[in-house]
Amino acid sequence: MSGTPAELPEGRFDLAVIGAGATGLWAALCAAEAGGSVCLVSRKPLAESASFHAQGGLAAALEPSDTPELHATDTLAAGRNLCRSPAVDVLTGEAPGIVRDLVDRGMKFDREPDGELSLALEGGHSRRRIIHAGGSRTGRELTGTLARMVADQDGIEVREETSATALWSDGERCHGVITDRGPIASRATLMASGGAAALWRRTSNPWGAIGAGPVIASAAGAELADLEFCQFHPTCISAPDTPTDGALITEAIRGEGAILLDDSGERFTDELAPRDDVTAAILDRIEQQEGREIRLDLGAIPPEKFPSVFAMLEKAGFSPGERPIPVAPGAHYMMGGIAVDLDGRTTLAGLYAAGECACTGVHGANRLASNSLTECFVFGRRAAMAGLDETPAEPGEIPGWRFEPPTAATREAVWNLAGPLRAGSELEQLVGDPYPLAGAIGKTALAREESRGGHRRTDFRETRAVLDHRHLIFLPDGSIEPRRWE
Ligand code: SIN
Repeated sequence: MSGTPAELPEGRFDLAVIGAGATGLWAALCAAEAGGSVCLVSRKPLAESASFHAQGGLAAALEPSDTPELHATDTLAAGRNLCRSPAVDVLTGEAPGIVRDLVDRGMKFDREPDGELSLALEGGHSRRRIIHAGGSRTGRELTGTLARMVADQDGIEVREETSATALWSDGERCHGVITDRGPIASRATLMASGGAAALWRRTSNPWGAIGAGPVIASAAGAELADLEFCQFHPTCISAPDTPTDGALITEAIRGEGAILLDDSGERFTDELAPRDDVTAAILDRIEQQEGREIRLDLGAIPPEKFPSVFAMLEKAGFSPGERPIPVAPGAHYMMGGIAVDLDGRTTLAGLYAAGECACTGVHGANRLASNSLTECFVFGRRAAMAGLDETPAEPGEIPGWRFEPPTAATREAVWNLAGPLRAGSELEQLVGDPYPLAGAIGKTALAREESRGGHRRTDFRETRAVLDHRHLIFLPDGSIEPRRWE
């Protein structure tokens, strides 16, 4: 921010933040600390967002032999020639400072007996660089701490149990947000509404992760990008037709030695390869063994290291110390979203986006594990600061369009037609889905005639070098434009 925000008319906020996950809470805090007036809109009570459920941690180069450059190299390798490299440099360069800032503010990360931060290993990382809080309860600890900081900070008005239903947009500029409890006018509006992985029926995400942010932003006139790239997490519990189906077994447990076994009890892949490779290996092996399941062997893992994972498994009727757990890929993280620059600026003036609903291009075609919580902090702060510099404009008429959530039929269709393995003939059927994001996913996945990262086509199995660094932009009129981001 270049200075104190210019005077605003009565009743208008400097920043309206939509969503109170890690990104929204942190962005609200940063903006208010910089002197901005903030209105934080949260569909649920604070600290019950999707970030709350995050089992993974924050990735940052903190170990003495590690550097942001090595972290960047791993991120680029996992992203399969689709990462926007300046965004990767920002993420990996700012990550260690973010961790120091959080520690200085009193965030309690897990530590070794000598007091140093505990650093875990996850797939695709060449160094131990994942920090957790409360073991696999990082999301809960982080959002709880951030929510307390927000409550103690002057300048933030929290509107809980309030849902964004549209943006206050005239198609040229965003002037705030329309909620089910009335409009909120703001100098800048920051979408931090989380991901879209619950649009797939089989998912590790809570129900609310239905991509409302991209749907609302697109209807208001913003561009979306990389919608064909969803990450399918390899180790979601396979328990069809039970409430446990799709629940996540954190990758950190593979970092500590859990192994994947096929039907004959043989190991068949490197459990710590990047996620798209592990998912592909599981799918191939399931096909080879005619649909019979893959299992994750936790026999070598001390339960006290992952108490909440073991408790969850036991509650669901598994005996993790005695019998390997059936697992299969489930939708976990959306790499695509609202197209933004490195300061979270969307293509609609006055609208910013950060966190999983946004697409900076930092994750490319396959996100490196635990880069997403880091992303919430790094890009959440940048977007909040940039938003405070906006010049306020006179709001126009309130638009008539309102967000409608997807039906169970859409979730079923997205899973069946645009799942971990997809074919053109199936994607064509998704294009006309009534939920706009489902149709847009169908359209972009159909247009990308290759396999890369999270996008695996059975009719185009190869990666095509000509499509390296080529992003598919979904325009507000529903057309698709290929673009290179430098
Ligand atoms: C996990 O703990 O396996 C998930 C973390 C992440 O998605 O980064």
